[in-house]
Amino acid sequence: MKKILITGGAGFIGSHVVRRFVTKYPNYQIYNLDALTYAGNLENIKDIEAAPNYTFVKGDIVDADFINSLFAIHNFDGVLHLAAESHVDRSISDPLAFVRTNVIGTMNLLNAAKNQWKNDFTDKLFYHISTDEVYGSLGAEGLFTETTAYDPNSPYSASKASSDHFVRAYGETYGLPYVLTNCSNNYGSYHFPEKLIPLFINNIIHNRPLPVYGDGNYTRDWLFVEDHAVAIDLVFHEGKNHETYNIGGFNEWKNIDLVKLLCQLMDQKLGRTEGTCAKLITYVKDRPGHDLRYAIDASKINTELGWKPSVTFEEGLERTISWYLDNTEWLDNITSGAYQSYYKDQYSV
Ligand code: NAD
Ligand code: DAU
Repeated sequence: MKKILITGGAGFIGSHVVRRFVTKYPNYQIYNLDALTYAGNLENIKDIEAAPNYTFVKGDIVDADFINSLFAIHNFDGVLHLAAESHVDRSISDPLAFVRTNVIGTMNLLNAAKNQWKNDFTDKLFYHISTDEVYGSLGAEGLFTETTAYDPNSPYSASKASSDHFVRAYGETYGLPYVLTNCSNNYGSYHFPEKLIPLFINNIIHNRPLPVYGDGNYTRDWLFVEDHAVAIDLVFHEGKNHETYNIGGFNEWKNIDLVKLLCQLMDQKLGRTEGTCAKLITYVKDRPGHDLRYAIDASKINTELGWKPSVTFEEGLERTISWYLDNTEWLDNITSGAYQSYYKDQYSV
């Protein structure tokens, strides 16, 4: 029985990873460590909470004493580290929160793993889940590869870049076994409605304006979250020690084109006349330091580990919209309370 620590498992991507590991690997005891911030929600993993190989631990990765004692009690064999402050807009209004969780929190986990494993790293692995945003912004051409120089532009991406550097440094300096992945924009079920796709689905449901930043000509590379979970599973089990893998959807969309497609699909799903949802599109003040374009070259994970996305964007988006329409209670529960004041501050409404 291996003991695996997954951090941030009550969040968007983490909940899909926890579900996959708990159901696919009955011989692993999965510990899901999450502070349950505004972005963490036990409803996201309700379906597996009674599984015998699953334990939820509420705790903050910024608390070094707590993290050290957790490692001392359980002596984990592997760590999949997803806990983070993850929203760029929030990093602009409160950058220090991102330094605390993303930098100090990651350091605490690295220290605890290094000290607990005491240089006997046999069959041990620290897997750090990161983002393509560390590479900065692309122009109209080119793709991010694993050797693209780091050039982060937002406090969020700077904090993730910093954590990536510390993971590598612990590998080089102390021999800590690690793998690291940098992934593009995810979408799918359980995505908190502060990010573009779930925010716009929720606003369409409620006939609210769709706030497109700037001219909407920013490009992102979208990946269905369940395909990301498959890639994470593969890298955890077959990735080479001290290697980085880029993960992406081979699926670039300008924001405005994506929003128009979303509006078209939502008109159909909600039985509204064609063009109704698109009337909600509203151009608003741009995000400061807004990165123009992200696009991933995922050929390394494809050729070395045989991974590629299995879900087309049209299928993934359709499944995502259906999930939100079938789960309006989940949406309503998390958009009451603190979400309302966040929304007012962010969109000046
Ligand atoms: P999320 O914001 O949905 O979830 C983050 C989770 O971490 C939440 O459950 C939250 O409660 C928990 N958390 C936050 N601070 C914590 C702390 N101090 N201690 C313990 N738990 C804490 O994030 P997500 O979108 O699921 O992203 C997960 C990871 O994947 C992050 O590291 C992010 O940088 C990375 N990533 C995200 C995307 C994306 O498109 N969402 C793409 C690439 C990489
Ligand atoms: O690339 C990976 C990253 O993708 C992850 O590391 C981050 O955790 C994740 O949040 C995401 O970052 P983005 O900033 O790209 O995602 P977001 O959904 O916030 O925005 C997507 C695009 O849509 C971006 O160009 C900004 C724009 N946008 C976003 C919001 C919330 C709008 O035009 N209006 C909005 O209201």
